Amino acid sequence: MGLAVIVLAAGMGRRMNSRIPKVLHPIFKRPMLAYVMDTVKKLLPERTVVVVGYGAEAIKGAMGFSEGIEYVFQPEQLGTGNAVLCAKEVLRDFSGEIVILSGDSPLIDAKTIGGLVDAHRKAGACVSVITAVVEEPYGYGRILRGSSGKIVGIVEERDATLEEKNIKEINSGVYCVDSEFLWEALEQIGSDNKQGEYYLPDIVKVASGLGKLVLGVVAEDACEVLGINNRLELARAERIIRNRVNRELMLSGVTLIDPEVTYISPEVIIEADTVVYPNTFIYGRTRIGSGCKIGPFAWIEDSFLGNGVTIGFSCYIVQARIEDEVTIGPFAHIRPQTEIMSGAKIGNFVEIKKSTIGRKSKVPHLSYIGDACVGSEVNIGAGTITCNYDGFDKHKTTIDDHAFIGSDTMLVAPIKVGKGATTGAGSTITKDVPPGALAIGRARQVIIEGWKRRPRGKKEKD
Ligand code: UD1
Ligand code: CA
Repeated sequence: MGLAVIVLAAGMGRRMNSRIPKVLHPIFKRPMLAYVMDTVKKLLPERTVVVVGYGAEAIKGAMGFSEGIEYVFQPEQLGTGNAVLCAKEVLRDFSGEIVILSGDSPLIDAKTIGGLVDAHRKAGACVSVITAVVEEPYGYGRILRGSSGKIVGIVEERDATLEEKNIKEINSGVYCVDSEFLWEALEQIGSDNKQGEYYLPDIVKVASGLGKLVLGVVAEDACEVLGINNRLELARAERIIRNRVNRELMLSGVTLIDPEVTYISPEVIIEADTVVYPNTFIYGRTRIGSGCKIGPFAWIEDSFLGNGVTIGFSCYIVQARIEDEVTIGPFAHIRPQTEIMSGAKIGNFVEIKKSTIGRKSKVPHLSYIGDACVGSEVNIGAGTITCNYDGFDKHKTTIDDHAFIGSDTMLVAPIKVGKGATTGAGSTITKDVPPGALAIGRARQVIIEGWKRRPRGKKEKD
């Protein structure tokens, strides 16, 4: 039998106190909804419907239209029951199990949902729900069980009696429901409660009242059911994901000196025997080889690092490709579309943008290299700058193999320094330098013999 998934994402998320729709709040720079959609994909559903309302266009824009996602619009946020009802129209012809998820619960694992669907089918249940037993149930719907232990209802925090508030088994907001029953039951629920909303959990009461089987599957890891309603919970979710990622990395052979202050997003790949120092952030599609030393205080995003790379204190690296045995930093800024080839050395206070630095070349101190193609075994002296921008356009600098760029050289692009050529320290280079030549472009030194400085304090009296 087929499976359809409905993801609820129409709420504004009032408790976030934000203009951004709640499900777009990021965890490791990705919207929380993206995590839920990753999980949905693993379930291989026949249909995926996302209910949007507040910030609908922003959500669609962020998530894209690809991958067979169907969006339906909930015009007024009348509650989770009403939100699901908005999907009825598009799922009218669908028959089978419908899994319902919340866009604000990004930690739920596909395996746990798979377990719910299996248990639901095996038991021939009508409604199945993932629950969790937690120490602090505040804010969640509580699971009401009858004397036989069967689930008979779910009561929301605001509608619960004092006694019900003491129940520690909570509703995760993840359900598996037979399609036919779902649409029928949703017609029967009302909004007679403290929030005046149509509560989806009320379908449990409907099923129980009809004598149908309601199944509760208790999550082994209560963290999975964390719903994000405010920024405290957002931070908690990020911390849980961070701990999971760091744990996996450490067990796979990566040393994290202090995992409590190491921020690595789930998509990152790091090979064994790399050491990550504290206060380091590694985000996006970054891949790091083995035997590297990263940080402390490094930021690396969407980059490739080979083996044996050293990234020193306070480096900021985005969209770069860094080959084996490269050394960078401390205090270096490596900007997008930069490629640093094996054995090269980038030193302190160096900025490199959209450039290639060849094998074993060195840019050791205080330089700006932009829109440049630097060959191999080139030495770039301290304070060298590629003057790549004339106020209108960017121009290219080419420095061929074995060139020696003297300290404080201004390379006014477009410009080419030939193979093995040298520029004198302090030169402003405006014409191409042929291979093997020396170019000097600076004022000649003047010597004035016998020059006497005025004695100290003389100026004021004169
Ligand atoms: C809900 C459950 C609660 C459960 C908890 C788990 C209800 C009434 N309560 O509470 O039992 O313990 O989740 O996290 O369902 N949404 C819409 N349209 C609406 C209202 C909400 O799409 O009209 C979406 C929200 O965007 C959100 C999800 O549904 O993604 C859940 O809504 P939320 O208001 O966060 O419900 P909770 O109070 O957390
Ligand atoms: Ca919620």
